[in-house]
Amino acid sequence: MLLGAVGGPQYDTLPRALRPEQGILGIRKALGLFANLRPALLYPELAAASSFKPEVVAGLDLMIVRELTGDIYFGQPRGRRKNAAGEDEGFDTMHYSVSEIERIARVGFETARRRGKKLCSVDKANVLDTSMLWREVVTALGRDYPDVELSHMYVDNAAMQLVKRPKQFDVIVTGNLFGDILSDEASMLAGSIGMLPSASLDAAAKGLYEPIHGSAPDIAGRDLANPLATILSLAMMFRHTFARADVADRIEAAVRRVLAAGLRTGDIALPGEATVGTKAMGAAVVAALA
Ligand SMILES: NC(=O)c1ccc[n+]([C@@H]2O[C@H](COP(=O)([O-])OP(=O)(O)OC[C@H]3O[C@@H](n4cnc5c(N)ncnc54)[C@H](O)[C@@H]3O)[C@@H](O)[C@H]2O)c1
Repeated sequence: MLLGAVGGPQYDTLPRALRPEQGILGIRKALGLFANLRPALLYPELAAASSFKPEVVAGLDLMIVRELTGDIYFGQPRGRRKNAAGEDEGFDTMHYSVSEIERIARVGFETARRRGKKLCSVDKANVLDTSMLWREVVTALGRDYPDVELSHMYVDNAAMQLVKRPKQFDVIVTGNLFGDILSDEASMLAGSIGMLPSASLDAAAKGLYEPIHGSAPDIAGRDLANPLATILSLAMMFRHTFARADVADRIEAAVRRVLAAGLRTGDIALPGEATVGTKAMGAAVVAALA
């Protein structure tokens, strides 16, 4: 984390093993956290703070289910080599096995079943063999979920549709690389990354819960950070690992109440609107819980 905060060329030239991303990739792999759940939810009170037109994003409530321990991020072989012309080239390997696709697709179907019953599987099956298999496996699994409406979309179209008509989506399931990019794009729809939680789950629904944002070094220690993404991550923990939807609902309702009461940290305030700090926002949620 500290290394990542350095930024710039110094960071870019670090050997791969020293980059902080390798730490988080290793933790996910070692703990078997193959399913990343990232809601993108825009509270109606914050629609005006989004950089998108309110009619495009107001009431947005979508969930991205991203595979987290496979794909091109972990594929071997990878590295640098000389090509036939003697030129240096970099290469990576994309692959997914049937069982890897099935287990993440199942999380997608189950998640859709608990929500709006619509699942969109995102791939690049017009070009990539990995995606052709992905589409076949997801389609076959869909027969176990007749109550869930399954659709497929190429990733380039999905990137466009997310900003054009994001409310068409309920649950999106996709691989590691495509999910990495699409989930960051979706986070912008929700106004601020200070609002968005995430869960990374293993096969037994044990998980790692964290806000999608990083350590925000530019505002650290100044009572400016929005604590709601972290608080909402706790709500996800109660929902997914502890199976206590009742507690999760209470926490989420408390957050909604403080927003409805007009409390805003700087990242979600409109120009000229009064703001509160991290501590005051946290205290207001605790008070709303009671
Ligand atoms: N999931 C993760 O573990 C994760 C994700 C992103 C970044 N990081 C790490 O965090 C460090 C900083 O990275 P970065 O600056 O690129 O990303 P960042 O998410 O920390 O910050 C990006 C921007 O968003 C703002 N921001 C972030 N969280 C906020 C909050 N709660 N309230 C208000 N504003 C907020 C920051 O002030 C900054 O302007 C790096 O070490 C990076 O590797 C970790």
